[in-house]
Amino acid sequence: MNQAANSILKPSAAGALIIDGKAASEALLARLAEETRRLGAAGVKPGLSVVLVGDDPASQVYVRAKGKAARELGFRSEQHDLVAATSEEDLLALVQRLNADPGVHGILVQLPLPKHIQSARILEAIAPEKDVDGFHPINVGLAAIGEMKRALIPCTPAGAMILIQKTFAALGENLAGKEAVVIGRSNIVGKPVARLLLAANSTVTVAHSRTRDLSAVAQRADLLIAAVGQPELVRGDWIKPGAVVIDVGVNRVPGEGLNDRGQPKTRLVGDVAFAEASARAAAITPVPGGVGPMTIAMLMANTLVAACRWRGLEEPKF
Ligand code: GUN
Repeated sequence: MNQAANSILKPSAAGALIIDGKAASEALLARLAEETRRLGAAGVKPGLSVVLVGDDPASQVYVRAKGKAARELGFRSEQHDLVAATSEEDLLALVQRLNADPGVHGILVQLPLPKHIQSARILEAIAPEKDVDGFHPINVGLAAIGEMKRALIPCTPAGAMILIQKTFAALGENLAGKEAVVIGRSNIVGKPVARLLLAANSTVTVAHSRTRDLSAVAQRADLLIAAVGQPELVRGDWIKPGAVVIDVGVNRVPGEGLNDRGQPKTRLVGDVAFAEASARAAAITPVPGGVGPMTIAMLMANTLVAACRWRGLEEPKF
């Protein structure tokens, strides 16, 4: 077994190896810190600008975490907080300003945006070479035709792919020719992860809410990726024995008892019934602590890559 890859797989009593996304993200952030120092020596400081419109509490938490990660790496990090009533024109004007700012290499407009703003118009206004979310149609198109050296790849699918590659390497297996089933067809996860798996020579099926006999389709999978946002949709008997299971879902569900403030407790679960699936899978990501921690690390990686490309410097591979 490959030692470095092996370090993200942890044994568990349930049977399956647990794919430790936190350990993988920490290793990636340590490499990014090294690369940031290398760029610093060349006079380049990666810059990330995050835009938040409105006061959605979940978005505030995500945006704060992104800024913190950027600062900890020594990036230039800025956050633009705009009121919920901000007009589309004012938001477009800010994006244009950031596009023109040579100290900003990555721009991220946090989604969802207020209803009166057309998200597509905003995302398409971001300069593709600064689009560290990888949501611009130019980046989607570059990824679709396999031009990975020029594309910026969405962070969650890119992070999931790193976990998948490391897991298969540790198991002494190769993705080429494997049956991969992706449940979910979103532009943010399902479709891009399917394209990445295809580029890695897997045989890819994209299943979704209209798929007939979803459990039978899932049972074909050597690699099953769940990205639908339905708590514990994927049951244990959907898993082919020995499969690798990647759970991208993050769902808040009622827990047991009351919290310190006397409110009903909640807990996070994935799209996969973890205990049941663990009894059959070879390896599985937990929720939380699986794909989630990789997303922010990949955002930092995309920002650093964007800075390298901006300055014509060699870019690291993650
Ligand atoms: N909201 C939830 N996830 C994301 C993400 O990855 N990028 C952006 N821009 N907004 C989000």
